[in-house]
Amino acid sequence: DDGECDARIVAARKVLGDRLCILGHHYQRNEVFKHADFTGDSLKLSQLAANSDAEFIVFCGVHFMAEVADILTFGKRTVILPDLAAGCSMADMANLVKVRRCWAEISEVLDPDQHVTPVTYINSAADLKAFCGSHGGIVCTSSNARAVLEWSFARREKVLFFPDQHLGRNTAKNMGISLDEMIVWDFTKPLGGNTPEQIKAAKMILWRGFCSVHQMFQPSHIENFRKRVPNGKVISHPENALAVCEASDYVGSTEYILRTVRASQPGDHWLIGTELNLVNRVADEMKEKGVTVEFMSPTVCMCSTMFRTDPQHLAWTLDNIVAGQPVNRIRVPEEIAEPARAALNLMLEVVD
Ligand code: 13P
Ligand code: SF4
Repeated sequence: DDGECDARIVAARKVLGDRLCILGHHYQRNEVFKHADFTGDSLKLSQLAANSDAEFIVFCGVHFMAEVADILTFGKRTVILPDLAAGCSMADMANLVKVRRCWAEISEVLDPDQHVTPVTYINSAADLKAFCGSHGGIVCTSSNARAVLEWSFARREKVLFFPDQHLGRNTAKNMGISLDEMIVWDFTKPLGGNTPEQIKAAKMILWRGFCSVHQMFQPSHIENFRKRVPNGKVISHPENALAVCEASDYVGSTEYILRTVRASQPGDHWLIGTELNLVNRVADEMKEKGVTVEFMSPTVCMCSTMFRTDPQHLAWTLDNIVAGQPVNRIRVPEEIAEPARAALNLMLEVVD
């Protein structure tokens, strides 16, 4: 049971001391989140991992995050994902075969290596980051997408953005790029479902991926809230559709959402459009300060893969480290890690 797992986790942490660092993403459930040494959004966690001296980094998050931690620590740390099945359905919507095919199809119309910067959201497999690193491209997270796109457009006039169409569209629209200058790439169709003229005219080529959690939030949820709470404020993650982001008062990463809501005054009332575990936690925290926090959707929408990391898996992983036989190590081969690291480091430089 959870009590027994808790005791094992606490005991293992005591034995391992500074040799161990547990990182927890904001979407983790409480029973796991409370054991994290550091918590954060994707950007903060990747920076923490890069700067960690710990021998073992246990990543309570999803697969691509553990890959980033391994890449940024040059394989010198043992990075562990407590449940190997904790993936990301959005990350799986793009893969190297499909992106290479897209690149080849674009090259029938224009030379992509001259005209298109490939930008991958950090929610993607390591080989896609490597693809970007090998083609003059870069990685972004939800908290630096704008700075990364500005950097990209200063180099080449077009961007191919994958896998999340919404983060790409929301960010570009905010930068003043109109919807007419954006096309969606549907890899099941020749030229992604576009004509050569459309590809030539486009500034943003958006991969047709999306987050299964954020797609549940609808503008009608915001309209209903505004009727009910006229002075309420709405804050959403940029993985939401454009209509949801445009109807919100604030849009930003999980870290930004927490920072903004925590800065509110007693009596404030929030509607938050992001994953349920984060919202429930900040709702509890803010209740003491007289601030009301509501979840955007009437139906429960959690990230099912973030939820896979449970106290049982965490306790099991830590026990194995203590026993000298670490399990579930995430290792990215150096031939992929090197170009992926180049694209990640570019991002970290652009952010600074
Ligand atoms: P951030 O924590 O970077 O905002 O990302 C949200 C997310 O969906 C992680 O998978
Ligand atoms: Fe992937 Fe969405 Fe889950 Fe984030 S919330 S890990 S983007 S499925």
